[in-house]
Amino acid sequence: MKNNIILIGFMGIGKGTTARAYAKKYKCFNLDTDDLIESKENRKIKEIFKEDGEIYFRKLEQECANWIEDSVTSSFISCGGGFYKVKNLKKLGTIVLLDASYNWIYKRLSTAENSKAKLKKRPLFTEPKKAKKLYTEREKFYKELADVIINVENKDLTTIIKEIHAKTTCI
Ligand code: S3P
Repeated sequence: MKNNIILIGFMGIGKGTTARAYAKKYKCFNLDTDDLIESKENRKIKEIFKEDGEIYFRKLEQECANWIEDSVTSSFISCGGGFYKVKNLKKLGTIVLLDASYNWIYKRLSTAENSKAKLKKRPLFTEPKKAKKLYTEREKFYKELADVIINVENKDLTTIIKEIHAKTTCI
């Protein structure tokens, strides 16, 4: 198996923030699948969904996973909330799940300083009811795929990244 850390979890749980803090503290490179897709397409996720639809976006996620499998090692990779659906996820590295209740995630997003922007850039989070349904559907799959589960509710970033580091041995 590859020596990457693959960070999965629901939208808005703080994967990007966690990944950047981890990379800085433990001196490794961090990649984000949404950023990789946006730069490959030279447009925002929101535009990709609007112009070409979700199915097309999922194809891009699979392409991204194939590229990681072929080309990326020793990196901390934060993934979009639906990236867990790619066929080769388990081949990409150690899967770490950030976990919290839906209500906690919703509160984190809606009380963030730039909450409007955070909600706006996520096409699947525009309706809280639909997002909650998605959360309920995905919860089980996230947990089945995870090698390590980190509950992040009410924990500070330093504690979270220390826990990830202690529970993984790859980077
Ligand atoms: C998605 C999550 C988003 C982004 C896209 C779809 C999902 O990433 O990939 O809007 O299906 O859960 P974040 O988890 O970083 O918000």
